[in-house]
Amino acid sequence: MLMGGLRRLEYRGYDSAGVAVVGDDGTIATRKRAGKLKVLANDLTEAPLPGGSTGIGHTRWATHGGPTDANAHPHLGDDGRLALIHNGIIENFAELKAELVESGAEFHSETDTEVAALLIGREYRETGDLAEAFQRVVNRLHGAFTLLAVHQDAPDVVVGARRNSPLVIGLGDGENFLGSDVAAFVEYTRRAMEIGQDQIVTIRPDSIVVTDFAGEPVENREFEVAWDASASDKGGWSSFMAKEITESPDAVANTIRGRVSDGAVDLSEIARIDEVLGDVDRILILGCGTAYYSGMLGKYAIEKWAGIPVDVELSHEFRYREPVLSSRTLVISVSQSGETMDTLMAVKYAQERGATTLSVCNTQGATIARESDAALFTHAGPEVAVASTKAFVAQVTALYLIALRLAAVRGTQSTEALAELVDELQAVPTKLSQVIESSGQIAELARGMSDTRSVLFLGRHVGYPIALEGALKLKEIAYIHAEGFAAGELKHGPISLIEPGQRVIVVVPSPRAVDSLHKKVVSNIQEIRARGAYVIAIAEAGDAAVLPFADDVIRIPLAGGMFEPLLAVAPLQIFAMELAAAKGLDVDQPRNLAKSVTVE
Ligand code: G6P
Repeated sequence: MLMGGLRRLEYRGYDSAGVAVVGDDGTIATRKRAGKLKVLANDLTEAPLPGGSTGIGHTRWATHGGPTDANAHPHLGDDGRLALIHNGIIENFAELKAELVESGAEFHSETDTEVAALLIGREYRETGDLAEAFQRVVNRLHGAFTLLAVHQDAPDVVVGARRNSPLVIGLGDGENFLGSDVAAFVEYTRRAMEIGQDQIVTIRPDSIVVTDFAGEPVENREFEVAWDASASDKGGWSSFMAKEITESPDAVANTIRGRVSDGAVDLSEIARIDEVLGDVDRILILGCGTAYYSGMLGKYAIEKWAGIPVDVELSHEFRYREPVLSSRTLVISVSQSGETMDTLMAVKYAQERGATTLSVCNTQGATIARESDAALFTHAGPEVAVASTKAFVAQVTALYLIALRLAAVRGTQSTEALAELVDELQAVPTKLSQVIESSGQIAELARGMSDTRSVLFLGRHVGYPIALEGALKLKEIAYIHAEGFAAGELKHGPISLIEPGQRVIVVVPSPRAVDSLHKKVVSNIQEIRARGAYVIAIAEAGDAAVLPFADDVIRIPLAGGMFEPLLAVAPLQIFAMELAAAKGLDVDQPRNLAKSVTVE
C-alpha cells in the first residue's frame, strides 16, 4: 500500500525513497534507498519488511544533503522507536541541531529533517502521546513543513502536522490515509478532507482528530476527489507525457464545461469576488515555469477583451521588490499543483497588502486554492509527467474565461462579440485533437535531431509565450540548450547567434491576425534564413507566404488570433518529447526536477 502510494507521488521527487512500518511484532522497521523508487522496490522484494498495518513512506527531492541512503527519509528518533518523514525546509535546523548535539544527540544524516525526528522522539518519551509531542515541537520550527511520524509504542497511530506544505486526509472504511496529495490514496478512497495551516492531525483506523498547534480541535471541509485511480495510471502509453498531451483537448473542454451558456461565461465559483471584478483597476498574474507563460497569455486576453492593465510576474521575483498593490488590485495566481511554495508565499504577501487573490489551480484540496479569496479550478485531471502539458492549455482556457467574464462585467465587449469569442474557445478542443492526431511530421523531425545542441524559438504577440514555453519544454526534458525570443527582438541582439544550420522554430501568427504581424514575422524568418538558419515554421493551414522561406512547415487549423496559442503549443510539446525519447531520456522524470516544488 505504501509503495503504491509512493508510485503515484513519485513525480514530486525521485532522488531517494523510504518507508517505515510499525510491525505486527511491535517493532518499527525502516528501509530507504538513494535513487528512484524502483531501487527501493527491488530491495523490498528481495528482503521484505515485517508485516504491519501502520506505516509512512516518502519520496525525496534533495534540499539539505545529497541524495544518499543516509539522507533519505524516514529519519529515526534517538531511541530508534520513532520514524519521521518531512516535506519542506526547517530553516532554523542549524540552531536546533547545535542544541541537540550539546545534549548528546548523534546525527546520522546531513538533513534538516533529522532535528524534528530527534525532538519529537524526545518529547514522546516525556508525554507518551504522539500528538502532544508534535504540539511541543512544531512551534519551535521555522520554515515550511509537512511532518508525519509513527511510533512503535503507538502501533495504530500516524500523526501529521503542516505549515505551508501540503497534506490531505483520505477517509476510508476502517482505514485512513494521509498524503501530500490525493493521488496517494485515491485507489482506496475518493473521500478526502483538507487540513488547514498550522494544524496537527492524528489518524487511527477508525478515527481522525485535527487540532491547531495548541491542541484546540478544528473542523475541516470534506470533498470528493473528482477522478479515480485509473486517471493517474499510464495505461498503455509510452510515457505519462504522451498520455497527457493527448488528454489536452479534454482538459480544455472540461475546463469550459458548465461555465458557459448561451454565449456567456458564468463563473459562479468565484461569485464571492464578483464585486471586486467590477471594481479592479489592475491585475497581477503570478506563476512559475509553465504557469508563468500561461499567465502571459492571460495578460494579452484580459487587456484586449476587458481593457484592464495586467502585469505578469514570476512569483519568486514579485515578493522581493516592494511591489505596489492596493485593495483594487486583483492578484491571479496560476499553479497546476497549487502547492508551489514560491507562488504560495507571493499570494500570502499580496493578501497582507490588501489585494484580492484568485487562484487558478488544477488540484483539489491544494494549499494555494484554499488560501486564496476564490479559486477557479482547471479540470485537466491529474498531471503526472514533470513537464506540464495539458495543465498549460487548461490554465490558458481558465484565464481566457476570466478575461471574458471581466469583459462582461465591465461591459467592454458587446454580447455578440462575447458570444463569438466563446464559440471560438469552444471550438478549440476539436481543432487541438486534429493537431495532435497529425503530429507525425513534427515527431519525425524531432527524432532526426537528437544530436542538436541548440534550438531557438521565435514568436510574436501571443506566439511569444508559446516560443518561451517551447524552449522550456526542450530544456526541461531533452536537456538541450533552447531559448525563446520575441521575433521582433531578434535584430536587437540574438540574431548574432544564427549561424549555418542553427535550428529555429517559428510560431507564425495567422495572416488574419492583428495589423501586419504576419508579414513582420515572415520578414523575420527571411532575415534568419539569409544567415543560414534551418527554419521550422508552425503556421496556419493555407498560409502560403511562409512556404518559400521555411525548411519545414507544421500546419495547425485556423483559429482566431487569441486562440492560436492553444493549438500551436502541442507540436512544440511533442517535439520536445520525441527528441528526449530519441536521446533515450526519461521523459516523465527529467534529472534535477520535481513536479511540485514545495520549497523556495
Ligand atoms: C516546476 C515544474 C514545472 C512547473 C512549475 C510550476 O518547476 O517542473 O513544470 O511548470 O513547477 O508548477 P505549478 O504546479 O505551480 O504549476
